[in-house]
Amino acid sequence: MLRPPPLLRWLATCLLISLFLGAGPARAAGRERLSLDAGWLFHRGEVDMPVVRGHGMSYQNGKTNNGWGAAAADFDDSAWRRLDLPHDWAVENPFDRNENASQGYRARGIGWYRRYLQLPETDRGRHIELQFDAIATHSTVWVNGIVVDRNWSGYNGRSIDITPYVRYGTDPNTIAVRVDADAQEGWWYEGAGIYRHSWLVKRDALHIATDGLHANPVKQGGRWSIPVEVTLQSSAKVPRDGVVDVVLIDPAGQEVAKGSARARVGALDVAVTRMKLDVREPKLWSVTQPNVYRVRAVLRDAANELDRTEVQTGFRTIRFDADRGFFLNDEAVKLQGVCIHQDHAGVGVALPESIWEFRLRRLKEMGTNAIRFAHNAPAAEVLDMADRMGFLVMDENRHFNPSPDYMQQLTWLVRRDRNHPSVILWSIFNEEPLQSTESGYEMSRRMVKEIKRLDATRPVTGAMHGGLTTDLNAADAVDVVGLNYQPWLYDDYHKKHPKRPMTSTEDTSAYMTRGEYASDSKAQIMGSYDDEPSSWGNTHRDAWKAIAQRPFIAGSFVWTGIDYRGEPTPYEWPSASSFFGAMDLAGFAKGAFWIHQAQWVKDRPVVKLQPHWNWAGREGQNIRVMVTSNAQRVRVVLNGKDIGEQAVDPYEMNFFQVPYAPGRIEAVALRDGKEVARDVVETTGPAVRLVLTPDRQALADDGLDAVPITVSAVDAQGRPVPLAQNKVSFTLEGQGAIIGVGNGDPNSHEADKASERSLFNGLAQVIVQSRRGGHGALKLRAISEGLQDAEVELPLSAATAPPQVPTAEPTTPLLSWRVSPATATRPDPNVKLAENDMNSWGWDEPPMRREADVKPFRLYRSSVNVRADRNDGHAQLAFGAIAGKAEVWVDGVKLGEKTSAEPAPFSVTLPQGGVRREVTVLVEAAPGQPTGLWARIVLERGAR
Ligand code: GAL
Repeated sequence: MLRPPPLLRWLATCLLISLFLGAGPARAAGRERLSLDAGWLFHRGEVDMPVVRGHGMSYQNGKTNNGWGAAAADFDDSAWRRLDLPHDWAVENPFDRNENASQGYRARGIGWYRRYLQLPETDRGRHIELQFDAIATHSTVWVNGIVVDRNWSGYNGRSIDITPYVRYGTDPNTIAVRVDADAQEGWWYEGAGIYRHSWLVKRDALHIATDGLHANPVKQGGRWSIPVEVTLQSSAKVPRDGVVDVVLIDPAGQEVAKGSARARVGALDVAVTRMKLDVREPKLWSVTQPNVYRVRAVLRDAANELDRTEVQTGFRTIRFDADRGFFLNDEAVKLQGVCIHQDHAGVGVALPESIWEFRLRRLKEMGTNAIRFAHNAPAAEVLDMADRMGFLVMDENRHFNPSPDYMQQLTWLVRRDRNHPSVILWSIFNEEPLQSTESGYEMSRRMVKEIKRLDATRPVTGAMHGGLTTDLNAADAVDVVGLNYQPWLYDDYHKKHPKRPMTSTEDTSAYMTRGEYASDSKAQIMGSYDDEPSSWGNTHRDAWKAIAQRPFIAGSFVWTGIDYRGEPTPYEWPSASSFFGAMDLAGFAKGAFWIHQAQWVKDRPVVKLQPHWNWAGREGQNIRVMVTSNAQRVRVVLNGKDIGEQAVDPYEMNFFQVPYAPGRIEAVALRDGKEVARDVVETTGPAVRLVLTPDRQALADDGLDAVPITVSAVDAQGRPVPLAQNKVSFTLEGQGAIIGVGNGDPNSHEADKASERSLFNGLAQVIVQSRRGGHGALKLRAISEGLQDAEVELPLSAATAPPQVPTAEPTTPLLSWRVSPATATRPDPNVKLAENDMNSWGWDEPPMRREADVKPFRLYRSSVNVRADRNDGHAQLAFGAIAGKAEVWVDGVKLGEKTSAEPAPFSVTLPQGGVRREVTVLVEAAPGQPTGLWARIVLERGAR
């Protein structure tokens, strides 16, 4: 190989060293928000920390940067699985009846994640923040072996300033995350792992604090304005001045108002700038016209843009009236709400944004206008979506507890969510035993006060399932009294407290299995006629009737809009998910979907006839037919013959007894005697062919977009066969993946992460996701024995994926070194240091530069954990730059000698051997020259 001449090598080394010392290229400006989802390494299970014993180890254990085990920078993760976030490991596990029913009979346990990343020199001096949108459940995060965060919430996001701990240039940084999912916060399926997105955000030292832009429009004296508050933060070493420019952008993308403010921010301090934007005649936000505005704040100094951030907001007034319920823009709007948890078929809690969009779209179709995210903070992108789609949101805090740790979780929630037009109500608790007590009142009072400090515009509720009649209880501290499952109290409580606004915070809890019309306790199946509420709940029809007929109850929050894993009720094993949903786990409609659609949809006529019409063997027997419609009258027609006509009962719905004859049964909805809608159900033949129906016709190639595809089986005439239970296998061609399958059967134990699934009562779902930067099309093929195959092609369309942090190769850095005093004579490189001697040799980390000394010799000592993929006799122990002559010794054996004194890179080949090695470098300085190990030191994979 050609080697460059010594002078060039010397110059290159000087450049490397100057880069290292920070005299390098100009600093990058502005803000970068980079996805950190790709390229993680994962280990399922605990990685034991060594037992700390003996003085040397105990001493080290007490030091900041000495994370042990998998937290250590040089931990051997070579056997770990590589994956991308979001990730839920619980949904990968098989069902196991010995696991917790409430968590869906799936093992949780402990898991570890690690990720390597490099930061360019140009980042030095910026503010570097690591963000996790949520980790289930308790988590600890280390950066370069230093604990940087501990979090006790499986739902809250964390923003961690890692600026002090990171390295720049070629030096790798190691992030390690220990996730304890044995910890549980709910009685529902919570998933396990880093199940939302993660980010690396780089900003100027002077920047806008995370969630530091508060811009919530208010209307006073008939005029709209936005009081804007921007919190600035500085990690600079000296006070800095900045100007914040704020613009309001209307739904058409036009800038319609602006303001500016200056601020001086002290070193490591915060400052809040305030301004008011006056806005004339904004387009109001509503459920039917969700006009979303954006507020952008740009921070700059004299020369540069330093940071920018943007939030969604909207112009609407909200008011809860004690007599007349909820008002949006001074119009009464009944809350037609549902409670939902956050898991979906196939993917557990690691939901792509597009699957959320699908779920919310399905809820809209059902007529839902309000959502309670039970019982925790949803993902940030879900609230953005709620704004855009026009949902009213009850935003709920997980823990009822005003002690500092939990209060901080509440503060985080309000700061993150207080700009959203969709959020109309904060909820501080759900069904807390202390709700009825003075403690409950005192705790609520403190939490309400904290919310009001951050957001004076929204009322606070707590969801109470009792305790409302004691002398002093939590309801005395909130703005809107929330009742769970107590319709009998509506009138009495209102009478006793006529000035208190009230809403149902949770109701219904009735059971259904999709596609089933007869309950069967042996088979753990519930029929779909809405006959069977839980003992504490009501049918979908009764619960709504009690609310709809009382104007002083603001609305309903049905338990639940969509099924969720865990809390299997009324049946436990083998049932593993709930039966409460108006939709099943995959978002397929159950009977309750059509009931609510009839109750809630106002802008179009709807009619639905249930059940299916495949009752071979029951010819002539009466079949109970349920017709749900929002018209005035409904008529049922069988094979062209009128069976009967009824006035629509908007609460109880309409039932007919129809003697079965195969063929065609129809429900005709009438208004003023005229047909306004019709539903047709036909008796089908046997299934002959599979059909794949994608929810959308294309996918963005950003590696994030996912499309649910409905799998069904049709008869020879192309009619969906309602009772088909065929097992279907899938193959996917193209640059993407099947990320999960499901069928909504609460009793199914088939795997979610699989390429096969049985139809359940005619339907299954397969979710495909694009690969980042993929091209061409995804081709999904479905195959089932005895049926004709189906195939669907989804073109990948070019999309801008969020910029991401490149995946860095695992590297083993040698970070922590002991350095001997200088000696005049050559020391023994294998000299032993006493266990309890912490002081006669110093402590240092690369770069280690020593000025010229008359005594030329020094020893540098460290130890390294050799990764299995480096313990092959080829790995290189690479020193970025050694200034002076040097000998490198490992475990008492000399491995190499650097004979020239000029600063230069040097490396030795590490022979195969033990896992932990002691490395000693004996350096002899050139007379009068500075010396030392001047650059990073790593154990690298060597060429074979
Ligand atoms: C409520 C509770 C919900 C769910 C539901 C089932 O009491 O708030 O989380 O458990 O019961 O009916």
